[in-house]
Amino acid sequence: MEDAVTAGKIKSIGVSNFRTHHIDALLKTAKIVPAVNQLYINPSDQQEEVVAYNKAHDILTEAYSPLGRGELLEVPAIVEIAEKYGKSTAQVVLKWSLQKGYLPLPKSVTPSRIIENGQLFDFDLSDDELTAIDQLHGVGSLTREPDTIDH
Ligand SMILES: NC(=O)c1ccc[n+]([C@@H]2O[C@H](COP(=O)([O-])OP(=O)(O)OC[C@H]3O[C@@H](n4cnc5c(N)ncnc54)[C@H](OP(=O)(O)O)[C@@H]3O)[C@@H](O)[C@H]2O)c1
Repeated sequence: MEDAVTAGKIKSIGVSNFRTHHIDALLKTAKIVPAVNQLYINPSDQQEEVVAYNKAHDILTEAYSPLGRGELLEVPAIVEIAEKYGKSTAQVVLKWSLQKGYLPLPKSVTPSRIIENGQLFDFDLSDDELTAIDQLHGVGSLTREPDTIDH
């Protein structure tokens, strides 16, 4: 991948599901630090350790399954905040992700939802609301560990 950067074929290198020990191992020989580490991150699992590690190494944290694959969209605490702003629960969860400093990567096959998921810049969550959403650990699924997952 580094050769491809040097050859001008790609601009940046990204990794996914890397925990801190995976990045440590990579950085022993890497000449180019990955630009991004894509991880399962949403209010239900915030992976604080690797997020802090990414930040310390100037690696962007990209949050995949930011809506918890849809399972976070009826959580009462999120519904309450969404109603306050006249936004959808998806928009609230995506805004939380952005304000936490992540790059959320939602997926939808529904054109109206794809548009909705980009309309995040006419409201801001308060610090108290961010903290309330931070408390939702475990409300949906948790990440699976890449070292032990049964493929
Ligand atoms: N690197 C990795 O290991 C990894 C692992 C998993 C996923 N990913 C990537 O992460 C991306 C997203 O993850 P994901 O698909 O697992 O989960 P997600 O984006 O959290 O959730 C997708 C689900 O939410 C629904 N949805 C999207 N926007 C919505 C909205 N505004 N209102 C209501 N429902 C909405 C979608 O329905 P509809 O599509 O029916 O609209 C779909 O059922 C994908 O591109 C995927 O490739 C990466």
